[in-house]
Amino acid sequence: MLRRPATVRIGPSLMCCDLARVAEEVSAMEADGADFLHVDVMDGHFVPNITLGEDFVRSVSLASRLSQEVHLMVTDPDRFVEPMARAGAKACSAHVEAEGFTPDVVKHIAESGMRPGVALRPATPLEYVGELLDRVDQVLLMSVEPGFAGQRFLPEALERVWDLADMIAPTGRAVEIKVDGGITFEIAAKLAEAGAGALVAGSSSVFSDHRYVPGSVREMRAASGGRTP
Ligand code: DX5
Ligand code: ZN
Repeated sequence: MLRRPATVRIGPSLMCCDLARVAEEVSAMEADGADFLHVDVMDGHFVPNITLGEDFVRSVSLASRLSQEVHLMVTDPDRFVEPMARAGAKACSAHVEAEGFTPDVVKHIAESGMRPGVALRPATPLEYVGELLDRVDQVLLMSVEPGFAGQRFLPEALERVWDLADMIAPTGRAVEIKVDGGITFEIAAKLAEAGAGALVAGSSSVFSDHRYVPGSVREMRAASGGRTP
C-alpha cells in the first residue's frame, strides 16, 4: 500500500549553503517554495564536527520568514533547547542516542514553543521512539551517519520509513517522518511513497559546490510527487 502524505515538505540544509551569502541563498530558496530550513547543530562531541549555532539561527530569523527546524547533534541536548527557541527556531529534534537525552528534553522543546522531535542514527532501533510517539510532532530518521554533509544515502533507511509509518499509524497521531542525509531526486520519490512527510535537501540535490541551485527546490517537490506552487 502506498501512503504518500498529502504534501511532502522540502527543507534545504543550511550547512550545505554558501555561508558567506546566506541571506541571498535563503531568499532564493524561499522564492522556490521551500517549506522550512534545516539547521544542523553539532558540538564536536556527539559527532566529530562543529557547525551552526544559536547566533546563526538568530541571523537567519532576521533574513527570512521560513521556519528554521533545528537538528541537534549534541551531547546533553537540553542545554540548547531554550537558546534555540529564543533565537527563533520553530522546531527542534534531539538525538535519542545522545548522552543526557531523556524524555524531558522533548517536553522542554514543546514548552519552549517549538515543535518537538527526536532524531535517530541509521542503526538505532525504531523501538527507541516507541513511547515517545505520543509526545513528538516529528521523527527525524538519518539516512547517513550524522556529522557531515555529502555522504551517500544508506539504502536501508528506505525500509525504516515504511516500518516507522507502520508504527505511527495505530497511534492515530500526525507524527511527521523527516528523512535527512544524501537524498537525491530519485530517492525523494521513493521516500514519499514510503510515507516520509518531510525531506531534507542537501548536497545530493539542491546544492552544488556549496551554492544553492536556483529552481532545485521546485525540482525536489516535483520529484517527491508534490505540485509546484
Ligand atoms: C548530516 C546532516 C544533514 C546534512 C544533509 O549530519 O544532519 O542534514 O547536512 O546534507 P546531505 O544531503 O548532503 O547529506
Ligand atoms: Zn541534519
